[in-house]
Amino acid sequence: MEKFIIEGGAKLSGTVRISGSKNAALPIISASLLAEGKTVLHNIPDVKDIKTLIRILEYMGVKVRFERNTLEVDPSGIYRYTAPYEFVSTMRGSICLLGPLLAKYGQARFSMPGGCLIGARPIDLHIKGLKKLGVEVLIEEGYIVGKTPRKLKGSNIFLGGNFGSSVLATANIMCAATMAKGETLIEFAASEPEIVDLAMFLKKMGARIYGEGSHCLRIEGVKNLKSVEYSIIPDRIEAGTYILAGYLTRGSINVKNVVPGHLFSFLDKIEETGVSFKSRKNSIETVPSGRWRSVDVITLPYPGFPTDLQAQMMTYLSLAEGISTVTEKVFPERFIHVAELNRLGANINLDGAKAIIKGVDRFKGSKTMASDLRASAAIVLAGLAAEGETEISRIYHLDRGYENFEQKLVALGAKIKRIKS
Ligand code: UD1
Repeated sequence: MEKFIIEGGAKLSGTVRISGSKNAALPIISASLLAEGKTVLHNIPDVKDIKTLIRILEYMGVKVRFERNTLEVDPSGIYRYTAPYEFVSTMRGSICLLGPLLAKYGQARFSMPGGCLIGARPIDLHIKGLKKLGVEVLIEEGYIVGKTPRKLKGSNIFLGGNFGSSVLATANIMCAATMAKGETLIEFAASEPEIVDLAMFLKKMGARIYGEGSHCLRIEGVKNLKSVEYSIIPDRIEAGTYILAGYLTRGSINVKNVVPGHLFSFLDKIEETGVSFKSRKNSIETVPSGRWRSVDVITLPYPGFPTDLQAQMMTYLSLAEGISTVTEKVFPERFIHVAELNRLGANINLDGAKAIIKGVDRFKGSKTMASDLRASAAIVLAGLAAEGETEISRIYHLDRGYENFEQKLVALGAKIKRIKS
């Protein structure tokens, strides 16, 4: 196993280029199965989750070629419609294969994703939506088995759950509805930029989708979808992580290849803490500042504050002046990073789904352990700002979603090394 050793305190400066969005890429790669021929996708991040999805596709008999962030997907030889446990258990996001497989091939056998470190993560909304379109769903020996005895039929589907909209359930149902007979209405659809990107991709293939970016989607089914070439949007979560690295190390980082509009709620909160940035068409540059102020943050589905930046924001607020609160409304159990941040000197207490953060004036390097993907990024950020050395074990979590993380940080002046444990 590998770990990071960070010598904290280096001021980061320079330019960092943001990679393609992992969370947009996963459903778009899956949706390429709907096409007749070879799809070519650009700006695909070279991260572990993408490689896991590629392995599942290869297992199914799909021809895949991945080189220099361009991915070719040719489903013409597909002969298995199963995603086995060993793949799904490491990457829950692979559930977004379900909708495309059922719409195009009429069958899918998928290991139940189960829980993970950020909570129970049910899939009831995926199943509800698919059933509404005419899919027969059974649970057999830990697998969801879906079959479509006849052509899928458009329907009116309310897709809201106890925690609001669901990103990947929306992706699955939208994909399935593109090839269903007649019209589908999805009420309480997710409006995340990754869903809009998927809709743009499907529309380029010939799908008829209306209302993407709102909470109501209308989809008119079509008979076939053609293969296209498409480029994925930049990763707003990776961008937010580097922006915070800039403030935490009192540096000026020019974060390039971002869509500032995708980070609206995050940048608004950052501004509320009293720091400033220069926002340009495709970049955000941090302006170094003294100590920032505490704020209250509530995570919500888009356009609210993203849960995937909650852990990193907590690192930032740990060094703010005053008391901040962070309330997690999307994954109420997503606080695995709190104990590790406290180990580095933060003062965070949990009260159910709310964290109370008393600002401290410094972090002190320590031995820590990475847990889930974004929690691990939060610990790296703290290590960069800490006095002395921080060791972070189990960094394979980070490799799931950050392309060339330490190389990008080193280029900005960070003292971070990857070593074998
Ligand atoms: C996606 C993202 C993940 C992000 C999350 C929320 C990918 C690959 N992953 O995950 O990084 O943190 O959106 O922005 O894109 N829920 C149900 N029933 C369901 C499905 C979800 O109750 O059938 C609940 C979840 O437990 C959670 C909430 O809905 O409380 C939102 O989850 P969801 O949007 O589905 O997350 P994912 O799409 O899995």
